[in-house]
Amino acid sequence: MKVLILGSGGREHALAWKLSRSSKVDSIIVCPGNPGMEITPKVSTDNLSWKEKDNFIKRIEQLNPDYVVIGPEDPLANGVADWLREKKIPVVGPSAAAAKLESSKIFAKNFMQKYDIPTASFKTVGSVEEGYTYLESLPMEKGIVVKADALAGGKGVVVTDKLDLAKSAVYDFLDNKDCSISTKEILFEEMLRGKELSAFALCDGTNYVTLGYACDYKRVFDNDLGPNTGGMGGYQPQGWPSESVKRKIDEVFRKTLLGMEKEGNTFNGFLFVGLMIENEEINVIEYNVRMGDPETQILMPTLNIDLHDYLKKVANHSLNESIDISSKQKSCVHIVLTSGGYPSIDKTPLNTNNPISYPVEYNDPTDGSIHLFFAGVNRNNKNELVNSGGRVMGVSAVGSTTEEAKELAYSQIKNFNFKGMHYRQDIARI
Ligand code: AMP
Ligand code: GLY
Repeated sequence: MKVLILGSGGREHALAWKLSRSSKVDSIIVCPGNPGMEITPKVSTDNLSWKEKDNFIKRIEQLNPDYVVIGPEDPLANGVADWLREKKIPVVGPSAAAAKLESSKIFAKNFMQKYDIPTASFKTVGSVEEGYTYLESLPMEKGIVVKADALAGGKGVVVTDKLDLAKSAVYDFLDNKDCSISTKEILFEEMLRGKELSAFALCDGTNYVTLGYACDYKRVFDNDLGPNTGGMGGYQPQGWPSESVKRKIDEVFRKTLLGMEKEGNTFNGFLFVGLMIENEEINVIEYNVRMGDPETQILMPTLNIDLHDYLKKVANHSLNESIDISSKQKSCVHIVLTSGGYPSIDKTPLNTNNPISYPVEYNDPTDGSIHLFFAGVNRNNKNELVNSGGRVMGVSAVGSTTEEAKELAYSQIKNFNFKGMHYRQDIARI
């Protein structure tokens, strides 16, 4: 069996590593991948880009994988899963139409309203003037959430109780040519309170496999200070959420998949639901149509199954049951190591090209409690691994409790180093 994965980050490394553990998988090619992934047995990389469609399809046909797994949202929103299905290449990933659950927040809100899926109340506007008038009519002390209707890598959302900040978000997203985010419509949402949780399922039409739950840390500094990032780490919670909340989350997956089927957008691939939970009540904040990064690095190390069995069924539309395969016995904590300067919102260059030192025994760990997943790395002319991107690599530690996993992760991280390296000290400090 040969599996091809699209993407280049820690998420794709974690998926590739989990597949490499299957005795049925002979090789895994990650496109474009990164050189750090190649430490994992059976894993190679191929500098193939999906952005040139004809060349991409031709090369995939040459490589002839048994199935393809699409990691990030961009290729999904651009229809790469549709291209592959047209060529009869089995693929794990939703169509562009189904990927609108993530690529259009307004589509997702209307969908949730139609199918009775709990979510914050909302309003859409199409002009700055309309946006300002609406904001001025609100009691700001309750707070408001302003969202751009675009894929914005987490940067298109402002949560605030300050009228001037809410207004500048409206102007920036709709009219400011210097803002990196541009949208035709704005979404206002009621501000939800509570604790956030992400839930993950691997779906084939209306059947799905529950993969588990994770809490992540988005801000760059301890105590949730500093700008938002792609994710600085996270953990698998234990004893929370309650069984009754898990049943409510299950209901969200079920209604979402049934609704998508009814709309003629049958969903095939990973579904990631971002939730706010307060007093056992749940609300969906957002959908993502892929695995999370770093949530994949949190969930894969404790999954006690052969992931390939399920991915193969999903790719071939033959998952004919819904089951829960999430880990009940173990917990995992993941800490992301970033380059100095990340997330560089003022566009100052990151401190890169620094050789990375780490305990090489973790390249192929014997007891399986520490795993390294590489992301923004490259090789220099001495063939040393150097940091080349914002999120460089992550360390996942597995324990019988979250506390044990956290202690292990932080005790080992002292042995990792590169110039400018930064990580949060408070991951899983619950
Ligand atoms: P999103 O890109 O929609 O996931 O939003 C990014 C983050 O903004 C979420 O992870 C939440 O922390 C926060 N957020 C989004 N929507 C709301 C909401 N309605 N109420 C409170 N916080 C929110
Ligand atoms: N960690 C959040 C995401 O992957 O979107």
